[in-house]
Amino acid sequence: MSIVIRDMTRADIDRVGEILYEGFTGVASKYGYPPVMQGLQDGKAWAWAMCHYVSSEGIVAEVDGRVVGAVFVNKRGDVGGAGPMAVDAAFQGKSVAPKLMDALLERAEGLSSLRCVQEAFNTTSFSFQYAYNFRPVADLLDLLLNGRARHNPELQSNVSEVTAQGLDAVCNYDLPRSHFDHRTDFAYFIRWGKVLLYRDAAGIRGYLACLPGSGAVQLGPLLAEDEDVAVCLFSHALALFKGRPCRTRVMARDGLLAGALMKMGFRLYCLSFLMVRGAWRPSRYIEAFGRFPEGV
Ligand SMILES: CC(C)(COP(=O)(O)OP(=O)(O)OC[C@H]1O[C@@H](n2cnc3c(N)ncnc32)[C@H](O)[C@@H]1OP(=O)(O)O)[C@@H](O)C(=O)NCCC(=O)NCCS
Repeated sequence: MSIVIRDMTRADIDRVGEILYEGFTGVASKYGYPPVMQGLQDGKAWAWAMCHYVSSEGIVAEVDGRVVGAVFVNKRGDVGGAGPMAVDAAFQGKSVAPKLMDALLERAEGLSSLRCVQEAFNTTSFSFQYAYNFRPVADLLDLLLNGRARHNPELQSNVSEVTAQGLDAVCNYDLPRSHFDHRTDFAYFIRWGKVLLYRDAAGIRGYLACLPGSGAVQLGPLLAEDEDVAVCLFSHALALFKGRPCRTRVMARDGLLAGALMKMGFRLYCLSFLMVRGAWRPSRYIEAFGRFPEGV
């Protein structure tokens, strides 16, 4: 079987969407978890988002002219996000995944680390990532709100939406804390979603990016000085996206934030691991992760 590895193009979006949808729906149902995506359209929307995300590079594997697998790498300075990755079920266990991983690692050469988020129940993928020296460095809770917040969340007076004119301010706040230049990410979130900013008399104290999808609204990345700021940002987001399903990922160790989100109506979907290949240092800020694995 001859496997061709090449760059993903926009013409591949529908097929890659199909592979993502079938791969992630299949693995969730194998372990008795509800599907993350509601339909094929969500898979295509995900592939579209990855393709249009400024620093994301898609790599596909082709057999006999048909795409059978895909993986993405997102570079942020000297750190990269790996994934999502999926291979057509008929081609799993047949060297497609290792070839995609080799191509991804080649693209990531020179980066100090690569990160991905891995559901704990997905043992095949966990073993696969582990074999390539991705190590679990933090436990994450994948939280899902099915649309009905417990208490009526309210818009918060300290929270505002960043506009294109406010891009400099949020970048200047973020850079010394995350040590990454997230300008293109913020521009993407402002264009396709919202970036919420918490500001008080002392200045900016946190932000939360929100990305509405065809299914759930992805809440994150978030960076906040403390849990109270984080809770205000989430409350504001729920008030804005009232009635829509929302997803986020928070550090499992951060009981204050996780507890507050559960009180708002979020429920645990699954435990996940933040997997890192290379150097990793925990942040001293409160973090939440959205769709893109390098998060903050
Ligand atoms: C994850 C996925 C891309 C892996 O592709 P695959 O073709 O199944 O992968 P492979 O068969 O080559 O490797 C997986 C297995 O080989 C093992 N393996 C692979 N390379 C290895 C190595 N060098 N050393 C030891 N073990 C290795 C893994 O331990 C794993 O074994 P297991 O299934 O018996 O636990 C594929 O299963 C998939 O598309 N799953 C659905 C979507 C998904 O889960 N994506 C990942 C989350 S981002």
